[in-house]
Amino acid sequence: MGQSAAPNGGDALVRAVRAHLSRFGVKPTLGATAPGRVNLIGEHVDYCGGRVLPIAIGVRTACVASPAADATRVFASDLGQRGGWSVGEPAPPGSWQSYALGVLEEVRGLPTRGACGPLDLTIASDVPIGAGLSSSAAFEVSLGLLLARAWGREVSFADLAAACHRAEHDYAGVPCGIMDQMVVAGAVAGHAMLLDCGTGEVRMTPVPKDAVLVVVDTGVRHRLGESEYPKRRAACERAAAILGVRALARADASEIGRLPEDLRPFARHVISEDGRTVRFASCLAGGDLAGAGRAMNESHESLRDDYRVSCAELDWAASRAASMPGVFGARMTGGGFGGSVIVLATHPGAQGLPGAISPAFEREFGHPCRVFEVTASEGARLEKV
Ligand code: GLA
Repeated sequence: MGQSAAPNGGDALVRAVRAHLSRFGVKPTLGATAPGRVNLIGEHVDYCGGRVLPIAIGVRTACVASPAADATRVFASDLGQRGGWSVGEPAPPGSWQSYALGVLEEVRGLPTRGACGPLDLTIASDVPIGAGLSSSAAFEVSLGLLLARAWGREVSFADLAAACHRAEHDYAGVPCGIMDQMVVAGAVAGHAMLLDCGTGEVRMTPVPKDAVLVVVDTGVRHRLGESEYPKRRAACERAAAILGVRALARADASEIGRLPEDLRPFARHVISEDGRTVRFASCLAGGDLAGAGRAMNESHESLRDDYRVSCAELDWAASRAASMPGVFGARMTGGGFGGSVIVLATHPGAQGLPGAISPAFEREFGHPCRVFEVTASEGARLEKV
């Protein structure tokens, strides 16, 4: 595909190594990277015990380290002047420092072998912030994996994901589900991760070679998501309590009528979306890309009309993409209120998307979007530095 800058690959690791040398005056001795992610389907169900189907993508966040003499220092090299922080300095919830502190504390608390010696750490990222591609999980997991290695913690990817998830809840104050950390930590190249967020069960599902995945990043970074996300989550918890179930996603759809009217559309989305994830996964396994695309279109409608987490730019991009020849389906991905659309297409269909979407999008909304292909990539890994 051509056109818009395609954030595939990138050089976050190279930049992190260089920045470390110039900030701390020594070469790093350890490195780790973790990818961004795109959820194919199963949106806003992870915190309701539902099933999700994300992939890791090619853009990565890199974290490098060297032993330090005194307190642990972290340098977020993409932030320039604002990027320096030492443990012990303030880390208010929501700041990037709160994510770093949370991961440091949570990994420190994992079953131990080594001592937690002080480190100088540098982070650089190619995952765009606010695009719905989970730059925060990439940050947490790259840092977490590096710390686990440096301090001799032996953890499974699921333990690492859980530690990073606690960091995001308890330190950054974001009540997210477990999907992002799980796929960022444990993805396998060429596969989507079918994750049951109720049981933690994981099944790797190969992405067929003829399925091309394209992201449209609308460039919209609505802060509204930050206040609406906890509200949706609280509404789902209320609905689950009324129905007497632990996982709203697995409740019986025929019970929705027992809920107060304001909660019904939310429950309808969560329960139907969980079913669509399973349907999509079996279409993918059977090579039925048309069926998978239909499930994506239905998912978008449900997120727009019932769950109400879409916005004009996402709706426009999803419906424009879905109407193009060689496209099976399209939907918003991630938390919503901006961010990105994911499109499932044939190879020729994908080729036509930048031209069909970018100029018309800019005319419609007065600012550009970015259209780029993504492939199912590997999760977090240690790197040679
Ligand atoms: C955000 C959260 C995830 C998930 C999605 C919506 O990305 O971090 O846990 O809830 O929104 O599916």
